[in-house]
Amino acid sequence: MIRRKTETPKKIARCGSIPRHVAIIMDGNGRWAKERGLSRVSGHKEGAKRVLEVVEESVKSGIEYLTLYAFSSENWNRPKLEVKALMKLLLASLKKYGKLFIEKEVRFLTIGDISALPKDCQDALNSLKKQTENFTKSNLVLALNYGSRDELVRAVNKIEKKGKVCWKDIAENLDTAKMPDPDLIIRTSGEMRLSNYLLLQSAYSELYFTNVYWPDFNASQLEKALCEYAKRERRYGFTTEQLKTND
Ligand code: IPE
Ligand code: IPE
Ligand code: MG
Repeated sequence: MIRRKTETPKKIARCGSIPRHVAIIMDGNGRWAKERGLSRVSGHKEGAKRVLEVVEESVKSGIEYLTLYAFSSENWNRPKLEVKALMKLLLASLKKYGKLFIEKEVRFLTIGDISALPKDCQDALNSLKKQTENFTKSNLVLALNYGSRDELVRAVNKIEKKGKVCWKDIAENLDTAKMPDPDLIIRTSGEMRLSNYLLLQSAYSELYFTNVYWPDFNASQLEKALCEYAKRERRYGFTTEQLKTND
């Protein structure tokens, strides 16, 4: 939610074409698997492999924050066995890729209420956060048991203040308090909705939808999204003419 002190919205609208923060809704694992006659869990396993590739590409591109929607607050509604398999896959992926994040100096963070996750997942998440806390250039944020409405309720309940509450009070208590707003939100699989993802933070995000299922989303797909983003004009309520002037 922080904005660099010197940047006015007008300056942000004109600034570089590489987004500081990209947030992805990794969707379509189930359909990818179904089309191949595989189980939904096989789709999730294939999807987990793409995370590594996309993180590497995002670090190379100079993206400061990459936020990945891995499990929503509504995904608990899925069949028990699928939820269990997703938690197992999370733990295995943290163990498998954790070393690489450390090697690449990627700071690992989460948003969402992780206290509801199995204890072994919480421990692995907290351990990776601790091991990477001093890295400053690249950040990988996993959204786990995340939903904007739940985040807002938790934020409001954290505010210790008498009298009127302003946006800053809310922003400072969201899970994303110390992060810039997403510049670009990508959703794979052809669905055109945000599914409770970063609803307040996406007020001025550029949206990019692709029909590609998440297990088929790779470095070149990310590059394509970044090229599309570079063509967009972010106006923040100003007119195009105003953005062209130098003040
Ligand atoms: C996204 O893929 C992964 C999670 C939500 C955990 P889906 O599992 O939603 O895949 P589809 O939408 O059923 O194809
Ligand atoms: C959103 O995908 C959540 C994640 C990608 C983790 P869903 O597949 O759960 O979203 P809906 O239910 O189709 O909106
Ligand atoms: Mg889905």
